[in-house]
Amino acid sequence: MTLLVTGGAGFIGSCFVRDWLAQSDEPVVNLDKLTYAGNLANLAGLAADARHVFVQGDIGDPTLLAGLLSQHQPRAVVNFAAESHVDRSIHGADDFIQTNVVGTFRLLEAVRAYWGSLQGDARQHFRLLHVSTDEVYGSLSASDAAFAETNRYEPNSPYAATKAASDHLVRAWHHTHGLPVLTTNCSNNYGPYHFPEKLIPLVIHHALAGKPLPIYGDGQQVRDWLYVGDHCSAIRAVLAGGRLGETYNIGGWNEKANLEVVHTLCRLLDAMQPRSDGQSYATQITFVTDRPGHDRRYAIDARKIEQELGWRPAETFETGLAKTVRWYLDNAQWVQDVTSGAYRDWVGQQYGNPP
Ligand code: NAD
Ligand code: DAU
Repeated sequence: MTLLVTGGAGFIGSCFVRDWLAQSDEPVVNLDKLTYAGNLANLAGLAADARHVFVQGDIGDPTLLAGLLSQHQPRAVVNFAAESHVDRSIHGADDFIQTNVVGTFRLLEAVRAYWGSLQGDARQHFRLLHVSTDEVYGSLSASDAAFAETNRYEPNSPYAATKAASDHLVRAWHHTHGLPVLTTNCSNNYGPYHFPEKLIPLVIHHALAGKPLPIYGDGQQVRDWLYVGDHCSAIRAVLAGGRLGETYNIGGWNEKANLEVVHTLCRLLDAMQPRSDGQSYATQITFVTDRPGHDRRYAIDARKIEQELGWRPAETFETGLAKTVRWYLDNAQWVQDVTSGAYRDWVGQQYGNPP
């Protein structure tokens, strides 16, 4: 028995691979292109582990996919591979179309051919789990009910549109070709190994570096935060017991406005690593130009996965965020390694200030 994981060197995929191999002896083949967001340092603890086979490559490469599937005969494929950053998709969507849309199509076709070659139990039990996002549902007003699986798709950013397209392809390959798929739509994740282009790790990194903490617009946009390990436990639950062709929303009932998140981070940092001048990190908060098309509010109704599969998050926002800040303080070298080179070019382009 083997799993094929794609995008397993990124933030969430690497957590999934680490947690999987901590709990199971089932080997993982990890296919990752190693874009700017992919990092083998996230998997350093598995370097000598024969159960982890890393392959650098693209989900859009049909020959590579066919070869890997035929060689390793996985009983499931879990697809994390994607371009994932909304702001980058606004600056240029080419890579998002290529990986999130065309790449997902190529993966579906390769998996369909492989699944078609299986027989008996192997064919019956095979699964393709596609990892997606709550952003496909668009934006909520303050009084709207949280996103349920039955909500209309109304993606607003180029990133969300490409994820929505990938979800539709996955759905169609199930309905038309019978491919045994599962789709998960999760809210905002946070935790260790989160690339510091995203709000929480960016704020921690900038705070410690004495840089401005950029808040887009009025900072009152709401996100529904989930600790990354809880996202991965939910994916394991869906893989084990999800109903074929179904989608499962994943979230922790944990809505926070961005400004509140940043103030909480500043308080944690003030307590764990006070500034040498005795001032709060909150003095570094700076309001900057809003993100174009910025979605106002996301919120996940997680009742389906809770009721059908008995899944619950293990962390509260308070415990998860404290663990996360501690991890960044203890892993300054990881941050330093990923914030050189191309990362500095991105920060300069996005925030207009030389890093
Ligand atoms: P990430 O950007 O940290 O990692 C993406 C990984 O995919 C990287 O390792 C990258 O090298 C790899 N990759 C990119 N293009 C590839 C390609 N063509 N072929 C193979 N590998 C490729 O992203 P993440 O935050 O870990 O997100 C993982 C998945 O979860 C994505 O599909 C994303 O849409 C989804 N998701 C993310 C969040 C979140 O809050 N981060 C929430 C819900 C869903
Ligand atoms: O909802 C799930 C999605 O969450 C995932 O599908 C995406 O892959 C993931 O990147 C994330 O998208 P967001 O756009 O919500 O995350 P980000 O961390 O970029 O931003 C979180 C909020 O913080 C958002 O309202 C924008 C705001 N923000 C972000 C940055 C980087 C700021 O105010 N300042 C910043 O510098």
